[in-house]
Amino acid sequence: MLVSAKEMLQKAKAGKYAVGQFNINNLEWTKAVLLIAQEYKSPVILGVSEGAGKYMTGYKTVVGMVNGMMEELNITVPVALHLDHGSFEGCMKCVEAGFSSIMFDGSHYPIAENIEKTKELVKICADKGMSLEAEVGSIGGEEDGVIGNGEVADPKECKSIADLGVTMLAAGIGNIHGKYPANWTGLNFEVLAEIQKLTGEMPLVLHGGTGIPEDMIKKAISLGVAKINVNTECQLTFADATRKYIEAGKDLSGKGFDPRKLLAPGTDAIKATVKEKMELFGSIGKA
Ligand code: G3H
Ligand code: ZN
Repeated sequence: MLVSAKEMLQKAKAGKYAVGQFNINNLEWTKAVLLIAQEYKSPVILGVSEGAGKYMTGYKTVVGMVNGMMEELNITVPVALHLDHGSFEGCMKCVEAGFSSIMFDGSHYPIAENIEKTKELVKICADKGMSLEAEVGSIGGEEDGVIGNGEVADPKECKSIADLGVTMLAAGIGNIHGKYPANWTGLNFEVLAEIQKLTGEMPLVLHGGTGIPEDMIKKAISLGVAKINVNTECQLTFADATRKYIEAGKDLSGKGFDPRKLLAPGTDAIKATVKEKMELFGSIGKA
């Protein structure tokens, strides 16, 4: 059964580790993440962007696939199904469809409007027993059509949003979606420390988990980050493994063109990436 992300993230914050959010795109992605979470006894969050939701033909299809797969695979570790960077309308659709968690990304609104909209969703999520993530400041780069200017969050605004009763808070601290450029100056730990000071027990969320050096990940966790989002890295390893399979001509020999064979190396690559991230985040054995 899907669960809210609240309990797993509060435990993670208290235990000084982070739970990974791995974005899913299709059956292979979902199965890879669930199997690794179960094998290594880790809580996990399945992230679904609005674009990926559309690709999978809608949120109801996603809920049906995930619930069915969890039952057939006997998944017993805590799993939250979470809308990633949702609009207000997208959040409402996911509440109806049966997601257990949503992110409202109101970061592009003036703060007063972000607060108003987030406040409405706090009430809805509380009624439904769902977790809610809010965002302050902005994540740089682009993810699935969501473009951010990378504005570093104001810790006081973070406190205003946290005080509304959201479950977890994402703040822009110099993090970027996609690959980090060579001239990236790193995460802003001073701002993160200030946010953690003002928001207390609130689990903090680090977006743009692809390619952040290990020491920065560990430092972020020590400063209250309890959820780390990873998307691009799984896409890169999937693409790389699939390319190698095709370039080696394996799709041309025997039954190598069978989609179940063609997609297998990429799926194994996602599994390896997810396991590596769970080890780094410290969530293995925490379920
Ligand atoms: O919301 C999802 C993430 O922030 C993923 O970022 O694609 O850079 O790993 P990433
Ligand atoms: Zn993100």
